[in-house]
Amino acid sequence: MAISLKKMGETFVAEVEGVDLSGPVNAETMAAIRQAWWDHSILVLRGQNISEAQHIDFSRHFGDLQDHTVKDWLLPAHPEILVLSNRGRGGVKPLDNGGAYWHSDMTYEEVPPMGSILHGLTVPPEGGDTLYTDMYAAYEALDDETKALIEGRTAIHSYHHRYMKMAEGGKRPAPTAKQLAQWRDTEHAIVLKHPESGRKALFVNEGFTVSIKGMEPAESEALLARLYAHAVQPEFIYAHKWRADDIVMWDNRTTMHCATPYDFSAYERTMHRTTIKGLALSQAAAA
Ligand code: OGA
Ligand code: MN
Repeated sequence: MAISLKKMGETFVAEVEGVDLSGPVNAETMAAIRQAWWDHSILVLRGQNISEAQHIDFSRHFGDLQDHTVKDWLLPAHPEILVLSNRGRGGVKPLDNGGAYWHSDMTYEEVPPMGSILHGLTVPPEGGDTLYTDMYAAYEALDDETKALIEGRTAIHSYHHRYMKMAEGGKRPAPTAKQLAQWRDTEHAIVLKHPESGRKALFVNEGFTVSIKGMEPAESEALLARLYAHAVQPEFIYAHKWRADDIVMWDNRTTMHCATPYDFSAYERTMHRTTIKGLALSQAAAA
């Protein structure tokens, strides 16, 4: 095997050893990383002192890259990279509270991303961990009644809803008319069948899912709240403690994540993210 894998504790996450992304990576190694990604949902690679171009090149092995609807967060020199930094870096404005709620990335898109690859550039000495939860395990642990209740149902996902929540909390400027016109709600199956593994995962998230289609509002709200609480129980969670030059890559369809607090005024925390386009989920479901 071209790489070596180490399980991170009892969780679904694996650390990839023996790979240096600052040099050439051969096809056999890439194939092994891809397989490991589907097998574990989350891979950690430590000590990757890579340039922006290398980050982008590595990410492109897995598919086309997707940019974010808020262009202010994209690195001007490399718009394939989203900058999450409390100080701002490379011409990007500081971002307060990026991802500090349970979510998977951009599920409000018609075709949600397949995955994200996050590179920690500057990380605080304490705090600022990222929590990840295993949505395969969360689905499998549901009782049969709940599984039957959500099978075949869809949920509505909305960026508008999330942005307004942040704007009301003073953490985002008021949206522009152009943004408002762009932000359309989308609808996705609550039980997602993974196109590679064929396994089912729970696919709703507190960040962007707003309701269950065809359900009374009170019932929808109660069921979503129950699913969110279920999915973030400690047995499903991995907490990543960042070191500079860590890379964490997650399968966006089978995990959720949440940034945790740190001393914002004392420390810088700067991360670069690439986002990989997914397959249409209807296509994925048929695969
Ligand atoms: C992200 C994200 C959380 C973090 O990169 O998509 O939500 O801890 N990051 O930086
Ligand atoms: Mn995120």
